[in-house]
Amino acid sequence: MTTENKKQAAAEGALDYIQVGDVIGIGTGTTTNYFIDALARIKGKIDGAVASSEVSAKRLKTHGIQVLDLNSVSSLPLYIDGADEATRHRYLIKGGGGALTREKIVADVSEKFICIADDTKLVEILGAFPLPIEVIPMARSHVARQLVKLGGIPELREGFITDNGNLILDIYNLEILNPVEKERELNNIAGIVTVGIFALRPADLLIIGSESGLEFIQ
Ligand code: A5P
Repeated sequence: MTTENKKQAAAEGALDYIQVGDVIGIGTGTTTNYFIDALARIKGKIDGAVASSEVSAKRLKTHGIQVLDLNSVSSLPLYIDGADEATRHRYLIKGGGGALTREKIVADVSEKFICIADDTKLVEILGAFPLPIEVIPMARSHVARQLVKLGGIPELREGFITDNGNLILDIYNLEILNPVEKERELNNIAGIVTVGIFALRPADLLIIGSESGLEFIQ
């Protein structure tokens, strides 16, 4: 079984959680793309979707799924998205695709956040994947210096601008032993818009695709 097969299986597994009339939050990435394609088969069941990126919004619209502005919905029963790393405590690193800020907003609004991933994403300790951080352009150097003081090695994601007009710093060499504390600490650095640690609002359920089938972690 390939990694792609596992991603697709995890995505298909999330379909069971959709209820008639739901508006669904949709993340970004290759695993989420499998989910969007699967969602198209049952699009009559839902009232629309809120997308965490322009790329996902485009894919949803291509399938004829209505994309709603987050400000026009009062609640979001379900949010489906992938991750770059996930622990069994359901803490995540996200932002590999650069969509972390909108993803964090949608996750915060949603009542249930289901993270779909293949088993290569499951880790003991977060941080082997370089931590994406969205920064205001004028604060780039300041934020990078602060991260160096914390033992990180920041690298500017060259040629990349987020949907919000900001930059991404990818931080290498961080071992994130306490994700909740680290998310809080980094959130306090002036100029950081969003940190790719999702621990203050973790996933409620992980659906992991593996060789032996789906694993549900909650
Ligand atoms: C997008 O910014 C990320 O948070 C994605 O959730 C993540 O990169 C998804 O990875 P896959 O492309 O492997 O699904």
